[in-house]
Amino acid sequence: MNEQNVQQNAEKRKRVFSAIKPSGNPTLGNYLGAMKYWGDMGKAADALFAVADLHAITVAIEPKDLRENCKRLFALLIAVGIDTERDILFLQSHVPAHAELSWLLNNYTMFGEASRMTQFKDKSKKAPDNINVGLFDYPVLMAADILLYQADIVPVGEDQLQHVELCRTIANRFNNRYSPTFTVPVGKVPTYGARIYSLSDPTAKMGKSEGEGDGTVFLLDTPDVIMRKFKRAVTDCDTCVKASEDKPGITNLLTIYAAVNDITVEQAEKEFEHSSYAEFKTRVGEATVEALRPIREKYEKLRSDDNALCELMKSGASKAAYLARKTLEKVYKKIGFVRI
Ligand code: TRP
Repeated sequence: MNEQNVQQNAEKRKRVFSAIKPSGNPTLGNYLGAMKYWGDMGKAADALFAVADLHAITVAIEPKDLRENCKRLFALLIAVGIDTERDILFLQSHVPAHAELSWLLNNYTMFGEASRMTQFKDKSKKAPDNINVGLFDYPVLMAADILLYQADIVPVGEDQLQHVELCRTIANRFNNRYSPTFTVPVGKVPTYGARIYSLSDPTAKMGKSEGEGDGTVFLLDTPDVIMRKFKRAVTDCDTCVKASEDKPGITNLLTIYAAVNDITVEQAEKEFEHSSYAEFKTRVGEATVEALRPIREKYEKLRSDDNALCELMKSGASKAAYLARKTLEKVYKKIGFVRI
């Protein structure tokens, strides 16, 4: 490759930003649906990942839970494959630029636009006694997260696409009012992740909060707990291990087996052609235990040394803060703030 090609390639390298809220104990569903693939994102693009702790306080949360959720998620993200040398992984609250830009962007976001957000309406209904301004402002903070890093692509779940749309609206409004400042990002729902349902009610999504009972496998469950949950998984009323719409239980288990082994559902069906349901459930449990074992081991190592974990947080935050400051300075100047 000559120098010009190298240059062009460098220019084409996209920047990807995503964040995840430390709001619960991550499940097998979160892992197979998204987290499993986050380690790969940094291979083809510059990847930044934030633990969105500022977003976590829009709903009531105990201080000790917030603290634990943040450390757990940070360590887990490394354990599932985010490379802290190659990628930038940090806690949102460690980079003050997020809160700063969020205030500035509030003034370029219309009340009506924020009022239309489905998530705001849903969450307001769920907790009518805590409809706080943070909940309302949530998507503006999210826009700040994304715009600070000039991200091209924002991988998100379906439910967050509307927020990315609002982010684009805000970015365009600011760029038009002043001059091009922000990269206008594209929200992308990944097509690769598997959709995993509860083991006890395979018509409902596998939940993320604690105390979901035996239907939810947590990423950090011990092998015996995982085996117990799989053995109790509900199945369907014939005896053949084949995926179909009228057999949500078996289909879900086949989906899990295929995802943890990186094979297709058809290949999984073939393996269990002659198996009983009981044998099948045990095998899915065992495969899950084996897939999660290295993650748990890496996680436990990271959690055994709080100082080392803190150093990783500091290093991620300082890399992120450097990039964020550059954007934020531009924004302050364009609006007309006196900089000293
Ligand atoms: N709101 C997102 C969620 O609940 C998390 C998030 C916060 C996010 N900031 C972000 C996602 C920026 C993408 C980009 O899933």
